[in-house]
Amino acid sequence: PAPGWSIDADVVVVGSGVAGLTAALRCAAAGRRTVVVTKARLDDGSTRWAQGGIAAALGDGDSPEQHLDDTLVAGAGLCDEAAVRTLVTEGPDAVHRLIRSGARFDTAPGSDDIALTREGGHHRSRIAHAGGDATGAEITRALVEAVRAAGLRTIEHALVLDLLTDAEGRTSGVTLHVMGEGQHDGVGAVHAPAVVLATGGMGQVFSATTNPAVSTGDGVALALRAGAEISDLEFVQFHPTVLYLGPEAEGQQPLISEAVRGEGAHLVDADGVRFMVGQHELAELAPRDIVAKAIMRRAHEQATDHMYLDARHFGAEMWEQRFPTILAACRAHGIDPVTEPIPVAPAAHYASGGVRTDLHGRTTVPGLYACGEVACTGVHGANRLASNSLLEGLVFAERIAADIVERPAPEAYAGTPAAPPPAALRLLAPETRTEVQRIMTAGAGVLRSARSLARAAAELDRIHREAALPGEAGHAVGKAPEPGVDTWEATNLLCVARVLVAAAYRREETRGCHWREDHPDRDDAFWRRHFRITLDADRA
Ligand code: SIN
Repeated sequence: PAPGWSIDADVVVVGSGVAGLTAALRCAAAGRRTVVVTKARLDDGSTRWAQGGIAAALGDGDSPEQHLDDTLVAGAGLCDEAAVRTLVTEGPDAVHRLIRSGARFDTAPGSDDIALTREGGHHRSRIAHAGGDATGAEITRALVEAVRAAGLRTIEHALVLDLLTDAEGRTSGVTLHVMGEGQHDGVGAVHAPAVVLATGGMGQVFSATTNPAVSTGDGVALALRAGAEISDLEFVQFHPTVLYLGPEAEGQQPLISEAVRGEGAHLVDADGVRFMVGQHELAELAPRDIVAKAIMRRAHEQATDHMYLDARHFGAEMWEQRFPTILAACRAHGIDPVTEPIPVAPAAHYASGGVRTDLHGRTTVPGLYACGEVACTGVHGANRLASNSLLEGLVFAERIAADIVERPAPEAYAGTPAAPPPAALRLLAPETRTEVQRIMTAGAGVLRSARSLARAAAELDRIHREAALPGEAGHAVGKAPEPGVDTWEATNLLCVARVLVAAAYRREETRGCHWREDHPDRDDAFWRRHFRITLDADRA
């Protein structure tokens, strides 16, 4: 649809998690006219749900080098070492800047030192946390307050549709669909020579996920339609310990943070036997992919679909003080972790891949940047190390802002006439969302095979064909769905699902969080490589 209104800016930041708000604050502080647009409210999105914390080499005896080693091991041979080095060396200062901008982290008893805990894959205590297990909520609070105090221009309830580019193929803004926001209502455009995608992940592509309902892969879908390069989409991380609410549970599921294991909880099977001991030197604190696989295997052996996390020995006081959010979530579902083991199973948690960027957050489209979960900076490889995601959002958002600010001040920029969005899109009916989720969970979930992936690809292709444009082969006659958030989200989910399945099908090995039943081994001789995908507009 043609934009009904437009505004001009120097930078438009899409998304309002740790990455988006950090980039926006830094650009605005340097005098750039910055607009933040976000699909729901400013404090919605994944960051708010982060529990465990933010990893950085802050403790005595720790070092960026040790953090680098743990990140590379978790990433199973596919990390970009330069990107990891950037993350771990710039991380500690970035956390201190976050503290100076108002975030309050928990401190060790009787001291001002930041309290640090452990999580899977870390050989040191290096996870800073806030409010016990409400780290993301505290970071969100601090950043939203800073954005409001700085008077940044924000547009909420704004779903970004497509990237605008000028005649030379450079970014010139975005089109948006805004609902109920006064003067900026309906379809409009923000014209700007720099666009920062910070739209978060795509967990909603699966039936059960720790991600909130807004995590529908919008940024990756937009980037694909804009011709940007996408990388490593097959590496979907399944968090091992998500509260198990039954085989039919759908949508966002309560996370039981790795920090619970970091503080000494045990994984036990249906007979109450610890099963991680002897499987890995770190037992319950092995990297996430290893724990998720062990849970699935043991569950399969016991003909069940979940295991248990036993932390009764923490006692009521520790549960209440250290993990108040998790305690409340469990009790809301009728489980009391003080007196009984918590039923847990893996669920989709994090996209290790995304829109490929360089060390300054630049994508392959000039003027388009990406940071946070939507990006593939190379730091996660085939499996993200626990609590590296908030840190990545922070560090690379700052680098993006520095890159934008270093460009000549765009005084002359007054909104280059934008080319129309690249693709005439096949909008999908909102009901398609659950269909896509079921197909993905059945065919491209924790355990995959050529057969399951081929079936998923065929079913997703059918949905794509049925939504073909009028006049095209396969077009199903019927009323076209009204454009709106739910139709766009369903459309974006299908787009990212198809690319994810294609990448997972091609990767004929097991590596990190990509687990192929028919190719159970890691194959460094052939598969130590990335799938980098660019779609032309018609195929998106
Ligand atoms: C958790 O608290 O277990 C999640 C941390 C993360 O995803 O890094």
